[in-house]
Amino acid sequence: MISHASATKSNIRFHYDLSTVFYRLLWGQHIHHGLWEGNESSTVAQQRLTETLAGLAGVQSGHVILDVGCGMGGSTMHLARQGCDVTGVTLSPIQRRWAAAESWCRGLSRKTRWMCTDAETLDFPEANFDIVWSIECTEHLFDKPAFFRRAAKWLKPGGRMAICAWLAGDRTDAAAVQKVEDVCEGFICPSLGTSADYCQWFTDAGLVVEQDLDWTARVMQTWAICDRRVRRSGVRHLAKLISRDTVLFLDRFQTILEAYQDGSMKYGCFIARRPA
Ligand SMILES: C[S@@+](CC[C@H](N)C(=O)[O-])C[C@H]1O[C@@H](n2cnc3c(N)ncnc32)[C@H](O)[C@@H]1O
Repeated sequence: MISHASATKSNIRFHYDLSTVFYRLLWGQHIHHGLWEGNESSTVAQQRLTETLAGLAGVQSGHVILDVGCGMGGSTMHLARQGCDVTGVTLSPIQRRWAAAESWCRGLSRKTRWMCTDAETLDFPEANFDIVWSIECTEHLFDKPAFFRRAAKWLKPGGRMAICAWLAGDRTDAAAVQKVEDVCEGFICPSLGTSADYCQWFTDAGLVVEQDLDWTARVMQTWAICDRRVRRSGVRHLAKLISRDTVLFLDRFQTILEAYQDGSMKYGCFIARRPA
């Protein structure tokens, strides 16, 4: 695991409160990578990532699901449309309001519930969920092993954890470590775990790892597209008026792309099951 000391909960909350509208305008409903097969649009690729994870997790109508770090509720609403009862949790009050309003407009209020709270202090009764789902949120957690230990208990026996996460790669040379630290700083992540770290955390939490997939090559063009859109939109000029951290965030799009290309980082998808 590679750590960086600069992240705080209030920085993370501020980032998502501020940036949600820009994510929506420049990227779409999901605040996560696309999963490409060819030259399809980023919207199709983002939706594929959500649907592929749902397929691997064995999502079925009637499942009770927790979406940890739900953003604008893209996954939560997708799962609700499949007939699941889904609770979305975000650190950002603006995202919670956005997601609640959008789910109401889309007629999904009865299948969705929204909470603005810190996933690291959250608690639920044991065996409450069929699936604990999280796309690109665990990067922001300060004590990832403790979170997985608690979240594993929220799963019903036979239930699954479905996680997509940015990862530190297997390189340990100084240049690679520096790149991961720069990404952590720009994207407000206290640390990035390796694929092996995640598997160990699942195992230590009593889960059985069913899938440990490397999607790096299929997701990395996300950053070339985002970088192009940011340059074209002139949003960097606006960022300069907001804060140094906002400029740093935009400037690190190139760093993350390079980190994926040279193996400093990876993108992982994991499915882990609580034994029946
Ligand atoms: C990169 S976005 C991903 C959003 C969503 N999963 C998606 O795919 O569209 C990260 C999300 O994690 C949430 N988050 C970060 N730290 C959190 C925490 N400690 N507790 C709850 N949510 C958190 C942010 O508020 C944001 O919604």
